[in-house]
Amino acid sequence: MSSLLEPVTVRGKLPLRNRVVMGSMTRNRCLDRKPGPAQIKHYADRARDGVGLIVNEGTFVDWTGCDWQWSPVMIKMEHAEAWRKVTDAVHEAGGKIFFQAWHAGRIQHDQMPIMREKGGRVLAPSSIKAEGGKYRDLPGQPGHTDNVEEIKNPPGVIDTYRHSVLLAKHAGFDGVELLAQGGYLPHQFLNTNQINQGGSKHSRSNKRTDSYGGSVENRCRFTLELVDVISEVFGGPELVCVKINPTDFYNDCATTFEEMKETYTFLIKALVDRRVGIVNVGRRGIDPNAGTGDFFGRSGRPEEFPLPPGYDPVLEFGPLVKYPGSPSLLMANHDYTPEEADRLVKEGKLDLITFARPFIYNPDIISRIKNGIPFAQNDRGKTVHYGPYRTPDENYNDWPAASL
Ligand SMILES: Cc1cc2nc3c(=O)[nH]c(=O)nc-3n(C[C@H](O)[C@H](O)[C@H](O)COP(=O)(O)O)c2cc1C
Repeated sequence: MSSLLEPVTVRGKLPLRNRVVMGSMTRNRCLDRKPGPAQIKHYADRARDGVGLIVNEGTFVDWTGCDWQWSPVMIKMEHAEAWRKVTDAVHEAGGKIFFQAWHAGRIQHDQMPIMREKGGRVLAPSSIKAEGGKYRDLPGQPGHTDNVEEIKNPPGVIDTYRHSVLLAKHAGFDGVELLAQGGYLPHQFLNTNQINQGGSKHSRSNKRTDSYGGSVENRCRFTLELVDVISEVFGGPELVCVKINPTDFYNDCATTFEEMKETYTFLIKALVDRRVGIVNVGRRGIDPNAGTGDFFGRSGRPEEFPLPPGYDPVLEFGPLVKYPGSPSLLMANHDYTPEEADRLVKEGKLDLITFARPFIYNPDIISRIKNGIPFAQNDRGKTVHYGPYRTPDENYNDWPAASL
């Protein structure tokens, strides 16, 4: 039997049926920014098939003009009440579900309708525009906004998270995954993005001179204070997972190899010192990437940020989390097959594995692993992820299970 199907308990607090985790996926289908019948069915179907843990789609802790118009937010009681129906359905099916706390920081646009309606501000560690972005709903399809406001008081933004995770607790989530990769707000604090440009150093993300910028301790402070606040709300660090991706290059977040090593060595040790339940390490951005290239394409990282050949951040940083007596579990993601994950669990290198894209196309991942049936691949093209769609169920709740 695959070792992925063995039960595991997160820090003595959260028993999971197996080691397979459905990764967080934005699907742009929460039409009034909260889940409805389509989401209840989607998550419950996957729980009914037996997945150990689900992480819900990235859910904004604040109003945001991010490119996905129909991503959910967790800001008001009505949002918590809508999510309560999802968590109840998952629990009834014997599953567990974490809330993914997401703040876009500078990866948004102040002209998006929601920002204009709510008077939202684009906040970031420093007033530096991110490269890239494409806001399909705005005239001219501009990139990320220039109108980035430096956060004056980081604890105030941490309070925004606190409010949101309190609602998530009320909604019945079993824990929280803090999104600290992908170039979003916590990641913006982590990175100086110091690169040599024509001989001069250029800072592209965090050039603060207060206690949230500069040294590695200072750049990690925002993420660690968020962990403390979530731990407080959820009665301890056991039910906190932090999602990081040292080699990431999304949303203008690539960093030099030297800075990456220094930052993540410090950060991961600090997370384990805090005894968080799970550290989720991604390997997006290694070059060449494994897998089919589905959705993410096959493009590697930007040339100016090379990695040593064959570099794998999960193998590099994993031992900082997974060692005898460690209080934290190691979860990994990006382009794993059940075979590779099974081998890593058997070798004692991994505790939990995330599959994300496969959960879109397969409502029955656990049955497939049990019965040795290969995962179905995407045979429907590029609109299945974010739309357009005629109804939220299209390309969401209409993927067949394998016939057994
Ligand atoms: C359509 C889509 C949406 C995603 N949205 C999120 C998200 O909201 N939050 C997040 O942390 N990761 C998100 N991801 C990344 C996945 O959680 C996961 O880390 C990545 O797909 C690698 O896992 P995989 O190779 O098993 O797909 C998304 C991925 C896809 C394909």
